[in-house]
Amino acid sequence: MTDIAAEFGTPCFVYSRAAIENQWHAYDGAFADRAHLICYAVKANSNLAVLNILARLGSGFDIVSGGELLRVLQAGGNAEKIVFSGVGKTRDEMRQALQAGIKCFNIESHSELLLLDSVAAEMDKTAPVSLRVNPDVDADTHPYIATGLRENKFGIDINDAESLYREAMSLDNLRVEGIDCHIGSQITSIDPYLDALARLMQLVGQLREDGVPIRHVDVGGGLGIAYRAETPPEPARLVKTIMQAVADPGLEILMEPGRSIVGNAGLLLTRVLYLKRGREKNFAVVDAAMNDLIRPSLYSAWQEIVPVSEHSAAAPERYDIVGPVCESGDFLGLDRDLALREGDLLAVNGAGAYGFSMSSNYNTRPRAAEILVDAGQAHLVRRRESMDDLLRGEALLPE
Ligand code: LLP
Repeated sequence: MTDIAAEFGTPCFVYSRAAIENQWHAYDGAFADRAHLICYAVKANSNLAVLNILARLGSGFDIVSGGELLRVLQAGGNAEKIVFSGVGKTRDEMRQALQAGIKCFNIESHSELLLLDSVAAEMDKTAPVSLRVNPDVDADTHPYIATGLRENKFGIDINDAESLYREAMSLDNLRVEGIDCHIGSQITSIDPYLDALARLMQLVGQLREDGVPIRHVDVGGGLGIAYRAETPPEPARLVKTIMQAVADPGLEILMEPGRSIVGNAGLLLTRVLYLKRGREKNFAVVDAAMNDLIRPSLYSAWQEIVPVSEHSAAAPERYDIVGPVCESGDFLGLDRDLALREGDLLAVNGAGAYGFSMSSNYNTRPRAAEILVDAGQAHLVRRRESMDDLLRGEALLPE
């Protein structure tokens, strides 16, 4: 890490190809010969090189925007393995995805269903669809990332799904392919999946009786990772449970994991700028900030912070690890016991998911560099933004 910091500067995100591949195989291998497709949720980490690693494994992708579609195609992903989620797909995004020939649109509302039918008609195409059903289960996670409760904006109320499927069947330019749900993120037990699947499979039974051809069941993503002492189930255990719940082998199973593929395959490398001792608290001001990693500020998320090279300095002291941004909420970790000197390197672990992809230019700070380590070799896969990048696209009013 010291070498990487010296070569590429800090702050930077560092990802491991081997760790990403291991996690993907943990899912894929557990399915054995059961028909399935792992659709990696691009939003977790959408760096082109990361997407390319997964594309080379034959992965599918879950996208939520035209931008993510562009990234997947650019990274060599197969359009026929893309599912398109999200509550606000625009007409242009629908056109773009129809043109590319994606596997399925996960429809989240009645209005969206009608719009997609009309866009497909204009293009003289048939759009493959599944309905994202909201099963109203509690994923027992942070309220900002729970998505499967009735009060969330996501999906179609499970009680309305049957009639909407009937309507979808009657529309000329749609082809019903499957059913979909996604109940939340950073889920650390199997139970919410079982609850959701029980409801979903009951609906699948009814739909098939009604003559609605359901060919695949997409169970979404959401499996949590260990940031601290969490003990989420292994991907293989989740997959086995899902295979049991979706018993008919004729049903293809889709999954949309994001965090559990890349989260613990990446860290944020940052350098201590100043140690600041106060009456109440000690602060370690580092060169990464909430604009680089917003999870601690936004969700009070705890991520491990470790010194890159231990030194025997003094006994550890308690610090808040804070960034240079002008907000009291700008911290990466609070009350951490660390032996620190100015200039030390720190690693924030678990930063491979929802790290860079949620970063911003707040305080006109350039977004960090991204490094991918492959077979012991560090490759720059996104250069640090330059001062020109920061001003790009802006214009003054005319004189
Ligand atoms: N599929 C859909 C439809 C989703 O909305 C999401 C995540 C996923 C799959 C992937 O979920 P995962 O396996 O990564 O949990 N920014 C938050 C997480 C937001 C998740 C949004 N949706 C965080 O940093 O914790």
